[in-house]
Amino acid sequence: MSDAVSSGRRALITGASSGIGMVYVERLAREGYDLILVARRRDRLVDLAEKLKRGNGIAAEVVCADLTDKQDLARVETLAGGDEALSLLINNAGFAGYRPFVSIDPEVIDDLVDIHVRAVARLSRAALPGMVRRRKGAIINVASLLAISAVLPPDPLPSRATYAGAKAFILAFTQALAGELEGSGVDVQACP
Ligand SMILES: NC(=O)c1ccc[n+]([C@@H]2O[C@H](COP(=O)([O-])OP(=O)(O)OC[C@H]3O[C@@H](n4cnc5c(N)ncnc54)[C@H](OP(=O)(O)O)[C@@H]3O)[C@@H](O)[C@H]2O)c1
Repeated sequence: MSDAVSSGRRALITGASSGIGMVYVERLAREGYDLILVARRRDRLVDLAEKLKRGNGIAAEVVCADLTDKQDLARVETLAGGDEALSLLINNAGFAGYRPFVSIDPEVIDDLVDIHVRAVARLSRAALPGMVRRRKGAIINVASLLAISAVLPPDPLPSRATYAGAKAFILAFTQALAGELEGSGVDVQACP
């Protein structure tokens, strides 16, 4: 066990069970953040939370949720906007679903929009009132360079109309929100 202790700051990270989200949570744990880890794969989240708690002396809560599911999303919104102060929200969960648009499964279109558009906007909306009231907090929205790739041909890039469109939403949403929040003490940024 390390000597690190909780810093009193608290972060909620979606898509914490692998990849970029897992790297975020490992770094935040080292900085002493208490964590709320959100994703669908409970086993991975539980193992990760145990490791982070043991190694960093922080608290880590596991929330198994499918962000394309409205009821699951509502549970996570409640946590993001609850009484306990949230210092940082990272909207990272996502997937690419690359496929020529004429043959993409319509349900994949729904899932791409639900996770990259609805969940990002709803969780931000849930977290922000408390952050603005406290004049403190930050939101990081994980976009993609593909957000600005729309005019490039599909080859050698993947066929990506819905993914690129959804990531373009994240970029424009974050830029506009940052403007609205200027001077509020709350920072909002998109990362590629
Ligand atoms: N990798 C890249 O080159 C790249 C480049 C630019 C942007 N990005 C973006 O970065 C983010 C993370 O991607 P990654 O590369 O780290 O991919 P990854 O390893 O596949 O991680 C995706 C994360 O999102 C979670 N997730 C997926 N669908 C979900 C759902 N319906 N509900 C809840 N959680 C869900 C996954 O967890 P579960 O499966 O356990 O639910 C996983 O933790 C995504 O938004 C992606 O679009 C990636």
